[in-house]
Amino acid sequence: MTSFFVTKAKAKAQLVGIKAAMTLLPAPRPTVFSGEGAALKLCQAMATFGHKNVLIVSDKILNNLGVLKPLEARFNELGVKVAIYDGVMPDPTMSITEACLQHYKTAHCDSVLAVGGGSSIDVAKVVALAASTQKTPQQLVGILKGRKASSPLYAIPTTAGTGSEVTVGAVISDDKTHQKNLILDPNVVPRMVALDSGIMSGMPPKVTAETGMDALTHAVEAYMSEIATNESDLYARAAVKLIFENLRIVYTEPKNLVAREAMALASHYGGLALNQGGLGYVHGIAHQLGSYYGLPHGLSNAIVMPHVLAFSRPVIDNKLADLARFAGLVTQETSTAIAAQAFMTELQKLMDDVKIKSVVPKMNEQDFDDIMQGAFKEVHGTYAVPKYMTEDDCKQILYVLSKQV
Ligand SMILES: [Fe+2]
Repeated sequence: MTSFFVTKAKAKAQLVGIKAAMTLLPAPRPTVFSGEGAALKLCQAMATFGHKNVLIVSDKILNNLGVLKPLEARFNELGVKVAIYDGVMPDPTMSITEACLQHYKTAHCDSVLAVGGGSSIDVAKVVALAASTQKTPQQLVGILKGRKASSPLYAIPTTAGTGSEVTVGAVISDDKTHQKNLILDPNVVPRMVALDSGIMSGMPPKVTAETGMDALTHAVEAYMSEIATNESDLYARAAVKLIFENLRIVYTEPKNLVAREAMALASHYGGLALNQGGLGYVHGIAHQLGSYYGLPHGLSNAIVMPHVLAFSRPVIDNKLADLARFAGLVTQETSTAIAAQAFMTELQKLMDDVKIKSVVPKMNEQDFDDIMQGAFKEVHGTYAVPKYMTEDDCKQILYVLSKQV
């Protein structure tokens, strides 16, 4: 128990430093183009800035689906050369990032355009920063290691979930250990982004549901954070409301561009919220489940979130109730206890409606110690969680996850 109190005190002291750094170095905001056709407007803007040789960072699935073709065609019309790196994989590694950086150098590019989900955007962020700083991706791991503006960076997210197009972080996995390395630096925020509902309408329902739950987790964890600000609260509440109103619609009507745009904004707002409020145990545990059992990030978050929220109650009931009232899940007059419980109930209903099963397949009790240590390493001293877990608390949650059917 002594070690728990030492950990908690040390974590809180580190958080004071992180909060001070975030206040002194506020995250820049990208210019946003939104709606159907926004991606082509972004291409036009890049040409206007005088870029002559763009590296598109993406993945083979999107390239084979032809998502990059209209962008290439537009750049060609505008006299901009295009090089493509489509080798990004989920949970991208250092070697993928280095290969992409090499591509940038070999093709003598002057700017980077990420087209994809969080993985492609994260790789593009690190490549752009490595290109301008002459550092290796590995040397950028940690907080504020760039110390210089990145090469001009732009992003077209194709999923509505990570909010990576606006966040100050990128996650790159170690090739051997699969542990996630965090690169935290305001210089990795793109200059401009396009939230193109037309491109997002091609997202399959399963990916739509899981990435939407990632966005919801960002908003909820940022809202529960002890270092949340008035501004991050504003974005978090808006994201939660938009997701409860639109996730079911985009799941059942993929071509509904109004709902797609709302989800893209929700994801973007979730990213803005987490830039200030940070994350919490849901992400800490979910990252480990992703590493150990290969679960997609959004799905891991969805599975873990109800358990971490339940653990944190009643400390967070006021905030859960706020979110329930703001999202219209209850009336403004509903009591805190009832509204907080309504949030939990509606969260489960939302997950059921978008067919997210609360199961972690093949969890192994022998992994629990390592999963817990990995989660605590990420969370303590990095995130301002409202209630700290003991080792037993965390293992109890893992045990419940392993027994769910
Ligand atoms: Fe996330």
